[in-house]
Amino acid sequence: MGASNSSEKSAKTMNWDNLGFGLTPTDYMFVMKTSGDGCFTEGRLTRYKSIDISPSAGIFNYGQGLFEGAKAYRRADGHIQLFRIEENARRMKMGADRLCMPCPSIAQFTDAVKKTVLANRHWVPPAGKGSLYLRPLLFGSGPVLGIGPAPEYSFVIFASPIGNWYKAGASAMNLLVDRNVSRAAPGGCGGIKSITNYAPVFEVVKKAKAQGYADVLFLDATTGKNIEEVSSCNIFIVKNNVLSTPATQGTILPGITRRSIIEIATDFGYKVEEREVPLEHALDADEVFCSGTAVGITHVASITYQEKKVEYKTGEGTMSDKLRIALTGIQTGSAQDKKGWTVQLD
Ligand code: COI
Repeated sequence: MGASNSSEKSAKTMNWDNLGFGLTPTDYMFVMKTSGDGCFTEGRLTRYKSIDISPSAGIFNYGQGLFEGAKAYRRADGHIQLFRIEENARRMKMGADRLCMPCPSIAQFTDAVKKTVLANRHWVPPAGKGSLYLRPLLFGSGPVLGIGPAPEYSFVIFASPIGNWYKAGASAMNLLVDRNVSRAAPGGCGGIKSITNYAPVFEVVKKAKAQGYADVLFLDATTGKNIEEVSSCNIFIVKNNVLSTPATQGTILPGITRRSIIEIATDFGYKVEEREVPLEHALDADEVFCSGTAVGITHVASITYQEKKVEYKTGEGTMSDKLRIALTGIQTGSAQDKKGWTVQLD
């Protein structure tokens, strides 16, 4: 299914120079529902529109839902490519098992993403201006009242052209450590992309933003001593050319960007450690950066803890920048993909 002439016209009115991380509805979305046997069989593209869901749906009442984030990039030669999309499919399957939901197969997931991108191809920004963000959702859409898994599930993908996650011009972020709010606890759902992981930190992030911080850095819920994650991304520290990041042991999202950075840094010959990272190591680091699909690799300019602000090296010549250039080169097609991480769609 191709994009209609009308989509081409509306995409043509876009000012690609002013993209931020906000929703610009595109023309098509993908919808697939479980059939009588509880399995996903066939989905289809429809016009982008509101969906009709019972007020007693599992997602509304008990938060049975997951999301993913992925990006399609337009290369300088005009072709469109996706980055490690099977990894999103695998992560969704892991989360679905945890939340007792059936899940599209890897092939169904990737095929649906590709169809969604191609149907909205005119919404993929020109090379270097941003990307088309894909938001796959899996949720209990069947009615429930007693606590338990829903009787029916929906898989939906919508798309929006996006630019930078953080405000235009902000090349580095200032983080605030919050000791009072935990993002995830051992045994909970911090290690999957559960929809319920996000709203509980809105309040603390909103307060931090009101004080001028870009985001909040959360500490582990058990000891309150180790850094874990920022509201929307993973975190890395660099000290004496060694790269360290909190190990994923159930409370930290296993980021696809995070994993890619670990591989690229290892290929570059850097020592990489996945371990407990005490807050004092972060405060003593040479560089700190965040990683995620939405944020890419974003330098951290400072971390503030108990009124004390610690500043870090950012910009050209840092390890963070070297990794950022290597990763975005592969993602956007400006560097050769020797790792087989990208797939061209058109
Ligand atoms: C992403 O990086 O795609 C995410 O899912 C984070 C989200 C909170 C925007």
